[in-house]
Amino acid sequence: MKASLRIASLAFWAASISPFSSATTIPLQQAQPALNCNRTCLETHLSTYLSALIAHDPTLLPTTPSVKYVENDQILPFTPSTGIWSLASTLGTYRHIFSDPSTGNVAAFTTILENGIGAIYIVRLKVDADGKLSEIETQITRDPTGAARYEKLGKPEDVWVQAVPIEERISRELLISQTNKYYSGLYEVGRWAADDECKDGRSVWAFK
Ligand SMILES: *[C@@H]1O[C@H](CO)[C@@H](O)[C@H](O)[C@H]1NC(C)=O
Repeated sequence: MKASLRIASLAFWAASISPFSSATTIPLQQAQPALNCNRTCLETHLSTYLSALIAHDPTLLPTTPSVKYVENDQILPFTPSTGIWSLASTLGTYRHIFSDPSTGNVAAFTTILENGIGAIYIVRLKVDADGKLSEIETQITRDPTGAARYEKLGKPEDVWVQAVPIEERISRELLISQTNKYYSGLYEVGRWAADDECKDGRSVWAFK
C-alpha cells in the first residue's frame, strides 16, 4: 500500500505543476497567446530535454534567454554544472507524460540514475509561442527504493491513459480547485500546529 500511496501523492504533485500551478499566479481565464506545439511536439521537447540532461549539455535545448530553471524549489542558474545537470548518468525506463497543448506545458514522472543510483525525477517544461523553453521546473527525489518501484511497474497503470467519456468529465476549473484543496489543507495543518484555536475544522479536504 505504501507504494501506491507514494504514487498517489506524486500524482498530486504532477497535477499541481502541470497547467495547474499557474492558477495561483495567472488568472485562469486569461487569454493565452496562440501556441503552435501539439501533444507530439510537446513530447518531443520532453524527450530532447531528457537526452540533453544526461548529455550534461543545456545548449542542446532551445531556451529563451531568461529561461527559469527550478530544481527542488530553488531557482538556479541553468548550466551544465548545476545540480542534477552534472550528476544524471542514465535515464530510467518508467515515463509518465502529461501534455497540455492549450497552455504549452508538458510534464513527466520518470526515473533516472545519478552516478548509478536510482532517483525519481519529475519535470515540467513550458514551451512558449516561439517553440522555446521559458520554464523548467524539476523535482528530484533521491529515493532509490521508490525509483525501483517505478521501474518494476514499467509503465503507468492503464487507467491513466484511458480516455474519460466527454459526458463524464468534470471541468478544468473544478479539477484545479480540487487540487488546490491539497495545498490549502497543508497550509491549514501548519496553522493548526501553530495555534490550537485554529483547530475548528474549517478547511475542506473532500476529494469527491
Ligand atoms: C502536430 O503538429 C505537427 C507539426 O505541425 C503535424 O505534422 C502533426 O500532424 C500534428 N499532430 C497531431 C496529432 O495533430
